[in-house]
Amino acid sequence: MKYLIISDIHSNIEALRAVIFETMSMDIDKYVILGDLVGYCASPNEVIERVRDINPAIIIRGNHDKFVSGLSDGRDFNRIAREADLWTRENLLTQNMDFIRQLPKGPVEVDGLFEIVHGSHYDEDRYILSSSEVLDEFYGSQWRITFFGHTHIQMIWAYDENNEDVEPNIFAIRDNKYEYKLDKNIRYMINPGSVGQPRDRDPRSAFAIFDSDKWTVTFFRVNYNIKIAQDKIRRAGLDEFFSERLAVGI
Ligand SMILES: [Fe+2]
Repeated sequence: MKYLIISDIHSNIEALRAVIFETMSMDIDKYVILGDLVGYCASPNEVIERVRDINPAIIIRGNHDKFVSGLSDGRDFNRIAREADLWTRENLLTQNMDFIRQLPKGPVEVDGLFEIVHGSHYDEDRYILSSSEVLDEFYGSQWRITFFGHTHIQMIWAYDENNEDVEPNIFAIRDNKYEYKLDKNIRYMINPGSVGQPRDRDPRSAFAIFDSDKWTVTFFRVNYNIKIAQDKIRRAGLDEFFSERLAVGI
């Protein structure tokens, strides 16, 4: 079974379209989305409608979906992120607002094979960046593989229970395509990167495919029309930083 794992689309329809187009010929069996459909960019309705079209097997909510749909007070958001989310709230059609409001909270297991979370097993809004943070995740879960988003950085953390060793195997993948063979005796936390707002200084849209027969995860990067996404952000009157960062991947 081939699973397309995507996260952090953030209202960037140009990036989402590029990812769907790129993967159309890859015999994907199921789409899995790790949250943050909205926030930051200017096409929230288009993104939600396209996501509904592709009929994902599972989607969980992210911290931005939660705030935009009124399920959190957004206390932890910085000023410009909060403003962008309030703009999103005002501009979402009712049926799209209803859609993000009913998204389940992670962790959620998928087909008895792996687990998905937005930020962390403990909190959607927690960033997993250091080895001590990731160790907490391995202690808090039994699954061999967990996919997570939120940091917007493609990576794999590998944990060997026998020697309690945890290490980041990949930071910032630069290839268009990078296949990683997983070891059945090792546990993994895997981030597919962000579709709509990459933050590893590579502006290309990021995603991953998990192949449960071959037990591999393949990381991809794909170009999309950044200029159009930027123009929409400017026209919507959202903070200039959200437009600028797309060009440099920060
Ligand atoms: Fe995000």
